[in-house]
Order: sequence, then C-alpha cells, then structure tokens
Amino acid sequence: MIEKSFFIRVIGCQMNVYDGDKLRGELLSRGWQEAESEDCADFVVFLTCSVRERAEQKAASEIGKFGKKWKKSHRPRLALLGCMAARLGDNLARKFPWIAVAAGPAHMGLVPDAMDRALETGARFVAGSETRAAGPISCAPRSRGNPHKAYVTVANGCDQFCAYCIVPYVRGRFASRAPDDVLDEARELVRNGAVEITLLGQNVDAYGKDFGGGARGRFASLLNGVSSIDGLRRVRFATSHPSDFTDDILDVMGSRPNICPSINLPVQAGSDRVLREMNRRYTKDEYVSLVRRIRAALPEPAITTDLIVGFPGETEDDFEESVALFGELRFDLAHTAAYSPRDGTPAASRPDQVPAAERARRLVRLNGVQTEISRKINASMVGKTYEVLLDEPAPKGEGMLQGRTATDKVVLVRAPLEMAGTFREARVIGSSPWCLEGELV
Ligand code: SAM
Ligand code: SF4
Ligand code: F3S
Repeated sequence: MIEKSFFIRVIGCQMNVYDGDKLRGELLSRGWQEAESEDCADFVVFLTCSVRERAEQKAASEIGKFGKKWKKSHRPRLALLGCMAARLGDNLARKFPWIAVAAGPAHMGLVPDAMDRALETGARFVAGSETRAAGPISCAPRSRGNPHKAYVTVANGCDQFCAYCIVPYVRGRFASRAPDDVLDEARELVRNGAVEITLLGQNVDAYGKDFGGGARGRFASLLNGVSSIDGLRRVRFATSHPSDFTDDILDVMGSRPNICPSINLPVQAGSDRVLREMNRRYTKDEYVSLVRRIRAALPEPAITTDLIVGFPGETEDDFEESVALFGELRFDLAHTAAYSPRDGTPAASRPDQVPAAERARRLVRLNGVQTEISRKINASMVGKTYEVLLDEPAPKGEGMLQGRTATDKVVLVRAPLEMAGTFREARVIGSSPWCLEGELV
C-alpha cells in the first residue's frame, strides 16, 4: 500500500472546521496518516472561505505559494475545498496544476475517493462539471482538531439571500438533516470523548422548516434531544437568525442546564431602512425586544452579534443607528466587518457603494465603541468564579491553558497540559476586552 499523508488547513467559519473534521476521520479510516506539518504531507487540504474578498485574496496568495514547493518534487498536492472552491475552483484548477482536487461543500462526499485516486494514478478531480449528487461525507467527525469539543451541522446551506451574502450561492439551498442523523452523530461523538457539542447552521433556528409543516418547535425539540445525551456536559448552537428565534428555544434552554446561555444573534445593521435593503426580515425594534426576552428568560446570558458597516447606501445617520444600538444593547462581543462586495449578490451591483476609506473609518469607530463595552463587561467578572472547560494551550504564555466559560468567554489559567479536556472552577483575576485571566480554585 502507498504511504499517504495529509495536512488540513482551515480558514472560514465553523462549517469548514466541521467539514475538515469529517474528512480527517474518513481519511484516517482509509489508512492515511495526518502529517505534522504541510512540508511533510503528500496532500495539503485547504478549506477556504468566500464571505469577504480579503479571505479569498489570502487563500489565492497561499495557493500561488504552493507552486514553488510543488514544482520541485510534485509534492505536496493540493485539495482546494470549501466555499471558494465552489465559486472559483474550476478557474483556479485551470491556472494552478498543483491543485489535484477542487470541490465545494456540495461535493465533499467525492473528495476522499478523489484524493486516493490522485495519489494512486495522478488523476485530477475538479468537481465543477460533476453531476453526481455527492452530499457530505457520511461518517461522524471522529478525529477532531480538539478531542473534547465537536461540531455537528444540523442544516446545510441557506435560503435567506441577504443582499450582501455569498453563502447561499456557495453552500446551496437550506437543507436540514434528519433528527435521527443528528442525534446518532452526536451520540457517537460523545462516546468518542466529546464533552461539548456545537450544533451548526447558517440559520440553526430555522431547523426543520424544510420538512413540511413549518419549523415551529423543531429546533427546540432537537436541542432537547441532543442535550439529553448522557455524558454531554455542554451544548452550544450557532448561528441564530433573529426572525426565526422563537420562545420555545428559550424554554428548552431554561430547562436544560447543559445548554450554554450564549447566543450569537447577528443584527447586521441598526437602521430599519438598511435592514430592509439587506433583506433581513426584522426591524430594529423587533430585534431589541428579542434581546430583552432572552435576557429576561435566562440568568446572565451572553449575547454576541455580527454587524456590517458601509452596506451600499448606508448614510452617516444609518451608521449612527448601529453605534447607538451597540450602546443600548451592550453585546458581550461583536463580529464587525466592513461591507465587501461579492460578485453575483444584489448589493454588489448597486451604484451607491460607500467608499472603502469611509467603510474603514466606520469600522474603526464602531470597534472602538464595542471594545469599551466588552472591557467593562469583562471587568465586571473579576473576582467571580466560573466553571471553565480547559481545552488547549494558550497561544501565548508558557504553562498557560485556554478554556471557556459556559457563556463562551475565553479564560487563561496556569495549569498543566494534562488538565486539557477537564472542567475546573476558576476565579477571574484579570480581564481585557477579549479575554479573562483566571486562577484555579
Ligand atoms: N447566517 C449568519 C447570519 O444570518 O448573520 C451569518 C453568516 S455569514 C457566513 C458570517 C458573517 O459574515 C455575517 O454575519 C456578516 O456579518 C458577514 N458577512 C457576510 N457577507 C458579508 C459581506 N459581503 N461583507 C462583509 N461581511 C459579510
Ligand atoms: Fe448569509 Fe443571510 Fe444566510 Fe446568514 S442568513 S448565511 S447572512 S444569506
Ligand atoms: Fe466562509 Fe463559507 Fe463559512 S463563505 S463564512 S466558510 S459558509
């Protein structure tokens, strides 16, 4: 048998991490080895993202750089996967001969065979012209980057077609997985060592709306089922769409202590006119009242949001409404971004684009406001004790481990590596806008 090794690099969102974890499990079960670094791998698997132009530019430059190494020894070959491969895989494969496999999320199921064939016969596989329905890789993500935590996608794709967003074009139509598939996969992951599972979807709270009979109750019932699995200490979910977030989800969260009280609820804009033009399907007031209901229903929930500045036609007044909303709702954290035009989306062809320098200015101003809010919220946690799942060595600081509270705050503590994967009580002794410092008690 030929020795074959792979190395996986992920950029983009948790959906790509999950796809990478599944691929890792499948390749290992076929006799592949995971290489320590790209330099000693036969295949580098690159999971890419198309959400903003910068993510694509970064990936394109990395793909170009592979050429130098490949030209010397025809090693490593590259598997270009993820959302950018759905959009540009054919073009890139034509340009770069070191791309041996190019396949988007809809064709992931064909990738393991294609990688085997590429090594055995040198055949290339470019999914663009592939008409076989491939679907996802069927095995559970048994072998994961982090053994204690796992993702489970509950719905693929998205049907919302927000005016700025490329995701529906690269990830396809919204398709929920059958509840039993999700539960079986979650049980297998727990048997395999996961103590925390995050349920994933671009719109998790719309889970089941494609089963017929509407989505009402479907996600709440799935959450109930997953959180009832013996041995599963934490359940998270992301991302929630404000117009699909119903009170039955809060009821289940209130009744099951292992569902973490942390909710990512992207608002995207603070102005009703911009929200309408973005095709978000809720008003600012509806959003505010949802946040209030969440805060009334759950003890100390953490709410995070996503917001785009500089959407086409966004005026200074519109932007100030986003700033005011941050002040009013005081999110724990915000993923903010300057609008990036994506070819093929309705917003990209609008004539009233906000100049790049203005988008950048608004982003800096809004981030400044949010940083102060996060600083104060985190400072208010100093002196309190929280249960933390320690999971990996901190990126900086010898002897430090990184963990997360139930509310998903990062906590750094001095602890030996053997404690990774365990739950510990930590008292917060320091804070910054981005993380907490703790000591084990
Ligand atoms: N489904 C989630 C939702 O409804 O908000 C978010 C999914 S999207 C993959 C992640 C984030 O990327 C979005 O919340 C949005 O803020 C940002 N994003 C999407 N398209 C963008 C664009 N064209 N320019 C800048 N940011 C964008
Ligand atoms: Fe994109 Fe909107 Fe779908 Fe989120 S809900 S993935 S922002 S189209
Ligand atoms: Fe990027 Fe695709 Fe996720 S575009 S954000 S990797 S769904």
